Amino acid sequence: MRIMMIGSGYVGLVSGVCFADFGHDVTCMDKDEGKIAALKAGEIPIYEPGLAALVQDNVKAGRLSFTTDLKAGVAEADVVFIAVGTPSRRGDGHADLSYVHAAAREIAQAVTGFTVVVTKSTVPVGTGDEVERIIRETNPDADIAVVSNPEFLREGAAIEDFKRPDRIVLGLDDERAREVMSEVYRPLYLNQAPILFTSRRTSELIKYAANAFLAMKITYINEIADLCEKVGANVQEVARGIGLDGRIGSKFLHAGPGYGGSCFPKDTLALVKTAQDHDSPMRLIEATVAINDNRKRAMARKVISALNGDVRDKRIAILGLTFKPNTDDMRDSPAISIIQALQDHGARISAYDPEGMENARKVIDNVTYAEGPYEAAEGVDAVVIVTEWNQFRALDLGRLKTLVRRPVLVDLRNIYRRDEVTRHGFSYTNVGQGAAPSES
Ligand code: UGA
Repeated sequence: MRIMMIGSGYVGLVSGVCFADFGHDVTCMDKDEGKIAALKAGEIPIYEPGLAALVQDNVKAGRLSFTTDLKAGVAEADVVFIAVGTPSRRGDGHADLSYVHAAAREIAQAVTGFTVVVTKSTVPVGTGDEVERIIRETNPDADIAVVSNPEFLREGAAIEDFKRPDRIVLGLDDERAREVMSEVYRPLYLNQAPILFTSRRTSELIKYAANAFLAMKITYINEIADLCEKVGANVQEVARGIGLDGRIGSKFLHAGPGYGGSCFPKDTLALVKTAQDHDSPMRLIEATVAINDNRKRAMARKVISALNGDVRDKRIAILGLTFKPNTDDMRDSPAISIIQALQDHGARISAYDPEGMENARKVIDNVTYAEGPYEAAEGVDAVVIVTEWNQFRALDLGRLKTLVRRPVLVDLRNIYRRDEVTRHGFSYTNVGQGAAPSES
């Protein structure tokens, strides 16, 4: 199959290179000339484990190439994926579809022969219909079928998720498109990955319903964590106790500083808007959005109370800046709000993140970036773990103790055990572990 990927951002690049690895002939296109030039030179614009090597292998094998020329690629393609951004529209939270619509118009002008046009970007229900309308209006002779194929990749585990998916969702109503898409995903079909054929609108909604559910699940355990702190219970044990119930499941029950990233915050908001527009409000998701927004600043208050209520002119080390480990993505990272809130209260911040510091510099001001976790901790009044990078899971607490000014550790990801931290002379605050009456 000849595949054209329009948009070489996170989703486009990962999907494109994985399709190439399946043996398809893939061209990844982007309007950003700098990005394409870098990719041609073997430089990968994002940090994703395993991606650089996979790109290199597939370019070498002649199955993967990069271009800024949409027309030539679309004309030759059997399948054109639209994988452009759908950011939150400024002001109202709706998904901004201007890039998707622009891509549809350009595809219409370039397409030759029967071509399957697939939306891989996360798009609100009805977008496939709109893409089809735009293409048919722009070029009434175009022989196309429009398919919805949402992606379920997690940053940091994207290649694994692509190659071993829980499911593949294909929303379509055209027999020829079904054959083409079955061929595109054939290698996974042979691995018996479940493929779900649905209507296009159902497929579009599945993506939002899945992300919103996961965001709600995290928010639920975060509220349980707050209650645990009040009643003297342990959220990790509660999570295990409920997660072993197969109907609930143990994943996405890690309490923490609130969800962030490029997907959950944007998609929950867009689903709320769609639901309101259709007079079918989703109160659970509305509450999820509001609770998660509040949570990030609440985490700053937790740090402040670990320092007895006053952080003015105190120095605080933040370990981990990205919204989760194994990515350099800072979008909607809880670290941003936490640092800003601490700065508002007069704290001075030093920080370290294994991959995120370059992007962090663009969105957070007045932070001293350190070379490593120990360097960040020199002379500080508190060390705060915001992102659970592996590197922070086994810190040498004895060494840390000799570096800090005050031994205060705030662990917003629950990666330490209280006894091992307090044994080294630190005071320890984490998420969702209330003091039992006997300890207080
Ligand atoms: C998410 C979904 O998990 C993917 O299935 C989906 O394809 C993707 O969005 C998307 O729509 O493109 P991602 O944003 O990469 O993937 O990250 P997640 O691993 O889902 O984590 C999201 C946030 O939730 C992070 O801030 C993470 O720290 C937080 N989280 C996750 C928790 O606080 N607790 C958990 O138990 C799990």
